[in-house]
Amino acid sequence: MRETNSLPRHIAVIMDGNGRWAKKRGLPRTEGHKQGAEVFRRICRYASDLGIEYLSFYAFSTENWKRSAQEVDAIMDLLRHYLAEMEEREDENKEGGYRIRFLGAREGMPQDIVRLMDEVEERSADKTRMFVNLCVNYGGRDEIVRAARTLAERVQAGTLQPQDITERLLSDALYTAGQPDPDLVIRPSGEFRLSNFLIWQSAYAEFWYDDVLWPDFTPADLDRAIEAYQNRDRRFGNAK
Ligand code: IPE
Ligand code: IPE
Ligand code: MG
Repeated sequence: MRETNSLPRHIAVIMDGNGRWAKKRGLPRTEGHKQGAEVFRRICRYASDLGIEYLSFYAFSTENWKRSAQEVDAIMDLLRHYLAEMEEREDENKEGGYRIRFLGAREGMPQDIVRLMDEVEERSADKTRMFVNLCVNYGGRDEIVRAARTLAERVQAGTLQPQDITERLLSDALYTAGQPDPDLVIRPSGEFRLSNFLIWQSAYAEFWYDDVLWPDFTPADLDRAIEAYQNRDRRFGNAK
């Protein structure tokens, strides 16, 4: 029998299917986002109990601004609500020990939300149990462009030579600097695409998808995804 992989260190989740979940029930799309946020909380807790070290969630992409103002506003309101609650629930966070980071462009986000994000990040900075990345106004291409700009500025300032630019250096200029790459990317809702999520970091991630819509996603689904991951043959370009 083939050896199984150990637990993934870093799991990344594309929280998709909220709109379809609501539509199926004759509810406004917003209700799907609300339910999706509850599931986010449940899955965080479960993954932390399992001993997962890094958990990343795709909450709002740089492309999601294309949606109606009404839907975007509703998502921002939900985010506002959850951020405020995260602050109130600091005790729970202490117990769970999540170190929370927001990955994505702060520009373009409502100022009060940016302030709350900064506060939540600061207050959780000494937590060690699990890293939680919340990708908000996040786009993988945008992230790489920003990293390229940072490196170009260093070249222009004369502190970096173009030939010294390595994969490592570029990685260190991304939002995920210092974190391990995702081992497993989970996409519910039946779509088979990355939609601009952690495209650099997922170069060798194992991909798991399923028809379950995110608001219906349960700890048992996470177990299934991890089990599938553990039976994958990861080669990283090696011969078998
Ligand atoms: C994911 O659910 C949440 C966001 C992109 C903000 P969707 O809103 O994309 O749900 P579907 O894909 O329309 O069902
Ligand atoms: C990806 O879902 C973004 C998030 C889950 C936040 P989308 O619903 O935006 O992706 P597409 O449009 O189906 O590719
Ligand atoms: Mg979608």
